[in-house]
Amino acid sequence: MLSKENNDLICRVGRGTPMGELMRQYWIPALPSSEFPGPDCPPKRMMLLGEKMVMFRDSEGRMGALEEYCPHRGASLYFGRNEDGGLRCAYHGWKFDTSGKCLDTPTEQPDRREKFCKNIKARSYPCHEVNHMIWVYLGSNAPPPFPKFEINLLPETHVIPPLIMMEEANWLQNLEGDIDSTHLDWVHRRLHEDSPKPEKGMRGFWNPTGLPPVLDIVPTSYGAYYSAKRVLKDGSEWHRINQFIFPFHTMVTQGDGTIGLRSHVPVDDEHSMLIMHIGHPVEPMSAEYRSRIANVFEEVGGYMDRTNDPRSYFMTKLNKTNDYGRDWKVEKEIMFSGIPFAANLQDRAMTELMTNDKGEAIYDRTKEHLSASDAMIVTVRRQLINAATKFRDASEAPANVHNVELDTVRSASVRTPANADWRALTESARTATPGSAAAADVGLILD
Ligand code: FES
Ligand SMILES: [Fe+2]
Repeated sequence: MLSKENNDLICRVGRGTPMGELMRQYWIPALPSSEFPGPDCPPKRMMLLGEKMVMFRDSEGRMGALEEYCPHRGASLYFGRNEDGGLRCAYHGWKFDTSGKCLDTPTEQPDRREKFCKNIKARSYPCHEVNHMIWVYLGSNAPPPFPKFEINLLPETHVIPPLIMMEEANWLQNLEGDIDSTHLDWVHRRLHEDSPKPEKGMRGFWNPTGLPPVLDIVPTSYGAYYSAKRVLKDGSEWHRINQFIFPFHTMVTQGDGTIGLRSHVPVDDEHSMLIMHIGHPVEPMSAEYRSRIANVFEEVGGYMDRTNDPRSYFMTKLNKTNDYGRDWKVEKEIMFSGIPFAANLQDRAMTELMTNDKGEAIYDRTKEHLSASDAMIVTVRRQLINAATKFRDASEAPANVHNVELDTVRSASVRTPANADWRALTESARTATPGSAAAADVGLILD
């Protein structure tokens, strides 16, 4: 349970809020490179942490992100012409490059144009593009070093374009699902050990003993990691070791040799994008894996058409308006939940309907009753409250803003003998050492 004050403190992310200001210290993944297929392609609206921006790729292929409203008289730069090294506002022709520098103010008489132009600047957000993804920095200071997540360091061939899902709820309740191992045994499980894969989505999770996992949590300077231990049929122990990394990232093991970064990026207080970025640490991603990931949503109907609002991007056709495609026959015969187990569709059904008394999709944590199975969630909330408060009161941000070496961690799926010291045994498995395989002793879905 959280007080209303602390709940607001860590959920709300607009400019000037403690958590919003903390998030603005970090580089934030925004849109995949494929949204901007070539130089001078059409600009796109985007929204991050409630801030409206227009993103564009200039004539040299560089990415830029400008505040949506033109510094002249506020027209939307979304309607701007993207040409000759900048975005030219459609209203009166003022032009800006990717850094926000004013290149032209043709409304001024030629003799004073250059001087006038020098004093105008559009608000710009630095961009950094790597491995099919464009990251944006929303802070007011110079950007910190770029994060050293393994997904950002691998060769491009080893990384597939990110899979993205818009979630219609506050970022924190979505993230809390990622660090809640216990729900695997319920919303994602199959009904019987031999239940087949349903027609749509993955086969369900299976826990041989049916006992809840035993959690062991380690807070760190970059967030926290934990093991969820389950016992396998032969008596050995299966540790699923997952990471939480400030401000909104997780690493959740799939047990298949891949590595990944999952980011719950707040678009505003009631929408966040789940960006799943997957790679392989030692070999190029196979064409088969690549197409399987690319088609995850196709099997469940794909994405809806977009409107001109960034909150409609990556919205799956299955959503809260149609009960996420719940299939009663599947629920009776195959899976604990009849919603397809495809990316976070089942999770969204659990988290998107959590609201506060105003009906906002921001869960009111004053009403909850936590159990031992929520220990990782409690730790992460405490870490977030401490980090946001320290930054608000003393301008001191967590260590991983500047020490990006702290980003070089991994999740891991490890089998150990009974009662082994998992923390000591898995130090290398939790470290992203270049060229080393990911610990994948047990796959997420036991056959
Ligand atoms: S409002 Fe953009 S040039 Fe006038
Ligand atoms: Fe889940």
